[in-house]
Amino acid sequence: MSDPGFTPTQLAARAAYLLRGNDLGTMTSAAPRLYPHMWSWDAAFVAVGLAPLSVERAVVELDTLLSAQWRNGMIPHIVFAHGVDGYFPGPDRWACTGLAAAAPAAPRTSGITQPPVHAIAVQRILDHSRRHGRSTRAVAEEFLDRRWPDLMRWHRWLAHARDPQESGRITLYHGWESGMDNSPRWDVPYANVVPGALPIYRRADTAVVPDPTQRPTDAEYDRYLWLLEEMKQVRYDDADLMSAMSFAVEDVFVSAIFSLACDVLATIGEEYSAPHADVRDLHDWAQRFRAGVVATTDPRSGAARDFDLRSGRWIGTDTLAMFAPLLCGGLPRDAERALVRAFEGPRFCGHPDLRYAVPPSTSPVSGDFRAREYWRGPVWPVMTWLFSWVFARRGWAERSRHLRAEGLRQAADGSFAEYYEPFTGEPLGSMQQSWTAAAVLDWLG
Ligand code: GLC
Repeated sequence: MSDPGFTPTQLAARAAYLLRGNDLGTMTSAAPRLYPHMWSWDAAFVAVGLAPLSVERAVVELDTLLSAQWRNGMIPHIVFAHGVDGYFPGPDRWACTGLAAAAPAAPRTSGITQPPVHAIAVQRILDHSRRHGRSTRAVAEEFLDRRWPDLMRWHRWLAHARDPQESGRITLYHGWESGMDNSPRWDVPYANVVPGALPIYRRADTAVVPDPTQRPTDAEYDRYLWLLEEMKQVRYDDADLMSAMSFAVEDVFVSAIFSLACDVLATIGEEYSAPHADVRDLHDWAQRFRAGVVATTDPRSGAARDFDLRSGRWIGTDTLAMFAPLLCGGLPRDAERALVRAFEGPRFCGHPDLRYAVPPSTSPVSGDFRAREYWRGPVWPVMTWLFSWVFARRGWAERSRHLRAEGLRQAADGSFAEYYEPFTGEPLGSMQQSWTAAAVLDWLG
């Protein structure tokens, strides 16, 4: 099928223009109207997209994010832009500054975290800086020196506070922490979240995206907000969350990302002479979480599962989560081959009715599939980017190129949508989403 679309040069120019337009000065909003603040994993992907344009600006992005890091090491999932309204739940609803001993006084932040993809951004920044002169390289290296301890504190917090039993899997206390807010992965855990009396609230997202079939339902939102109240009751204290929260899951996809990120950071640490003890810890965590991910898999298919700590049940879903081991490796050869086949086969990228051969968030053959609803089916370009980047890293050049080519075909409409309907390619959710532009810039860079 031919797409009218923009040429690669036009597309790159538009993506750069978009990021410039979403630039608030020292942070890039995740999307102009729907998400007018900085989101943690968005910021990392945005830095990946900024790096080919300006290493200096990409460094500023991560610096802003890290300036909001909590004293315990957590990178919060939202850093609120000063004086910007229009998002709910905003800083007053989270109330972290007043309640949480570990939260910074400024900037204001949310009280949960998001997937740890940041090491990838650091690596891209260093890569791009090497193509420049001495002064740009110095900016990147000075950043690394200055922020290395913070990056270590971040990884250490994940390894300790979010895996106290050393299972090799990261525990999440809110579906938002997975970045895949309303994925069918969380249907069982959320069924056990029974909202009590909620302080009154009004959603802001449905005013920006008025079509309710593209967003989570009100019942889902009540549960999301109830979990905030549970956290607030224990003042966001790491030690108390495990007993206080009615939502607690081991997220296999985040665990795989963490293993991968530890590998990436360890390599950077080796190249730039970081302390040996840090590099050793990173290798240990990479290994521990790789084993933790592999332990969830089906021996034949290689498909990974989440674990619901509240009901004590495994959660196997036909979603992107089943491909977690492709990110971090560690599967036996046959199982890995089977999993790659599933990724490329008719349940995912190879489904005959897909407009582009890119992975939908939920398999179209699954009973949970909803073509237009957020993480229940649509294609998220930034996930296509993640898999294409990982495949290249794992030496699967042809697979990586194919995903990139298909991802670019999809992006050629120039809407830079948050997500796309898999069969028609209709752009959905927010338009001008920063991380979609960033993915395109990296692909075209
Ligand atoms: C939505 C997505 C999340 C993303 C955020 C900002 O909440 O589910 O992954 O970080 O929007 O783009």
